[in-house]
Amino acid sequence: MTNYDNWAEIYDELYSEYTDDLSFYQEISSSAKSILEIGCGTGRITIPLAMSGKAITGIDISSKMIEIAKGKIKKPLPNLSFKVMDMTELNLNQQFDLIIIPFNGFQSLLNEFDQLKCLKKIKSLCHKKTKIILDVFFPDKEIFEQKNTVFYQVSQKTQKSLEVSHITKFDYFNQLLHTNLKINKIFNNQNSKVSYKSFTLRYCYPQELIYIFEMSGFHITNIYNDFNKSLIQSNQLIIEAKLTNE
Ligand SMILES: C[S@@+](CC[C@H](N)C(=O)[O-])C[C@H]1O[C@@H](n2cnc3c(N)ncnc32)[C@H](O)[C@@H]1O
Repeated sequence: MTNYDNWAEIYDELYSEYTDDLSFYQEISSSAKSILEIGCGTGRITIPLAMSGKAITGIDISSKMIEIAKGKIKKPLPNLSFKVMDMTELNLNQQFDLIIIPFNGFQSLLNEFDQLKCLKKIKSLCHKKTKIILDVFFPDKEIFEQKNTVFYQVSQKTQKSLEVSHITKFDYFNQLLHTNLKINKIFNNQNSKVSYKSFTLRYCYPQELIYIFEMSGFHITNIYNDFNKSLIQSNQLIIEAKLTNE
């Protein structure tokens, strides 16, 4: 299991500039009066939604992620609240218009029992019109065949840059990918500091996701393959669901 507290310190350096999904989540939240973000991390999505006046609650299992998210709020936002909570043990005394799990958050659940448990808890926070939206990926041939270390650089605009190399091992039977990262932080092109992180995610194929949603009492209303709502063949899945009419 991934130690997300351990990730919190480096999370924004790696992912704060990732904005591909932001306008999608902003658009779908336009008609929602109350939003729950599950696995809100350091507030990459939560804070912009709150800044636009949305009533939003962000929950995350990592108290460090939440601490960092709270530290980023520069002016009081009474419409925003953060809570440390496990998505399989959701306990909130409210129903939401929109429930989102962005940026592969649902894949942190490493077996189908936890996935079903989470969906059951989500169900208790829904009213008839609640929309549930999550995005996930599943490995394609290219990812499966990647033998060598993947190398990339981030944050070149700032005084420091990050050189990241990662390598993934697949557990095909349990649909898990275990990724190890080596992160080399270089300050002013001179001194550097190396740290190591790892994470495990579970991938699901489209039909499997549809099945576990249907089994949990949800009906899938839309599936997209990217944040422009296209249906192209890609390894990204964006699922929109609502409660099945009973
Ligand atoms: C990839 S990050 C996404 C963060 C944020 N939503 C974003 O888009 O930047 C996944 C987040 O899910 C959280 N998480 C993992 N397992 C969780 C669980 N069981 N319950 C609640 N949050 C969890 C992690 O701590 C992490 O912050």
